[in-house]
Amino acid sequence: MSGKQKVIAIDGPSASGKGTVASRVAAALGFDYLDSGALYRLTALYARKQQVEWTDEAGVAALAENLPAKFADGSVWLEEEDVSAQIRSEAIGMGASAVAQLPKVREALLQRQRDFLTEKGLVADGRDIGSVIFPDAALKVFLTASARVRAERRAKQIGLPCEGLEFDRILSDIEARDEADRRRAVAPLRQLPDAQLLDTTELNIEEAVKKVLDWYHNV
Ligand code: DC
Repeated sequence: MSGKQKVIAIDGPSASGKGTVASRVAAALGFDYLDSGALYRLTALYARKQQVEWTDEAGVAALAENLPAKFADGSVWLEEEDVSAQIRSEAIGMGASAVAQLPKVREALLQRQRDFLTEKGLVADGRDIGSVIFPDAALKVFLTASARVRAERRAKQIGLPCEGLEFDRILSDIEARDEADRRRAVAPLRQLPDAQLLDTTELNIEEAVKKVLDWYHNV
């Protein structure tokens, strides 16, 4: 592991279960956890509250630069407001995907993400953790699952049946976001040659967590 950072980078598409796996791996190792997607979601929400268009690169980047956000006790705060639920809405997810395509916004959030690493170690999840934020991570994982299985997980999470119009909308939102994240010019979502592939279509959370811990203990 010499020369490597004490970081586990977990990248992958939306609703793949990265967050759950990453936070459990962090807890098992006593590492900190960074949900980088939350920073893009917070940026989108903050822009909406400040009435800045999601396509206004300079305007959104200026907000991202000084994002008054805080992660504490499992909640996400924007200024004095607990926005943990607000940032999880589909609308803010689409906004996050939009602002994440703007190079100046990504640049504004770069150092902030690196600052999460302390001597404790860090598990970070996102799209470009292994490629851009922590290219020297000790372990890189590309965590994915089929779009249908991801849509089913999301539906169950919000108490909806896994069929019907609402379900079809969740599935098409997931597919649209995948497409946007993969096709964008800056830091597109892709599996790196040095990343381990973890396909959770047929795995439960415990199995996925165990797999990552096994890899980490063997680097
Ligand atoms: O992981 P998530 O669904 O919370 O991410 C929300 C959006 O943010 C997603 O569409 C892509 C973007 N994102 C990104 O571009 N880079 C990251 N490291 C994390 C998220």
